[in-house]
Amino acid sequence: MDFAAFEKLVKQRRSIRYYSDKPVAKEDILKLLDVAHLSPSVENAQPWRFHVIFSQEMKRKLMAACCYGNFIDATSVFIIVSCDHSHEHSMPEVVWNPRELEFSCMAAMMHVIFGATAMGLGSCWVSLHHGQIHEFLKLPRDQTVVGGVMLGHFKPGEEKSREHFERAPLSKLITIYE
Ligand SMILES: Cc1cc2nc3c(=O)[nH]c(=O)nc-3n(C[C@H](O)[C@H](O)[C@H](O)COP(=O)(O)O)c2cc1C
Repeated sequence: MDFAAFEKLVKQRRSIRYYSDKPVAKEDILKLLDVAHLSPSVENAQPWRFHVIFSQEMKRKLMAACCYGNFIDATSVFIIVSCDHSHEHSMPEVVWNPRELEFSCMAAMMHVIFGATAMGLGSCWVSLHHGQIHEFLKLPRDQTVVGGVMLGHFKPGEEKSREHFERAPLSKLITIYE
């Protein structure tokens, strides 16, 4: 893939909050998690844990644990990513900033999101209340909840329904040291 193709993919992605009823195939989700697993991570700790939720009943129950926008019952599949912090203890000499374990999980989430875009699927990151999800999924104590990703097929006509949200001028956000 050249840069132009990558740029096209990046520009194609935007947050989609409502989807068609067409289910996303489990094999496609596994392909996405396969590329997520190739993400960079601090000292290759691979702290991401993926919780893939197809169950409509579970999605409905989880809605209260979403910070804003309870859209997740309108998605085909909802993936929750948690972070395994056990590396903090097993590799203390290399994990000098424990937040980097969660940053690594965020990198994996972006692989899922761009992979979904390349598959022609819509996606949206969802902020989650840590405690409620932790209890709901019965996660071990050394895992934190990083976030959720909704995935689904576009509703007919939805693909071209809006441009990207406006971005601040890039020039104000860059400092170049020469
Ligand atoms: C860390 C993070 C948390 C987000 N949380 C939510 C959320 O809880 N609900 C939601 O609808 N969108 C959420 N979003 C999506 C943003 O609202 C969206 O990316 C932003 O408005 C820019 O729009 P775009 O993704 O279409 O370019 C989140 C995005 C990020 C990166």
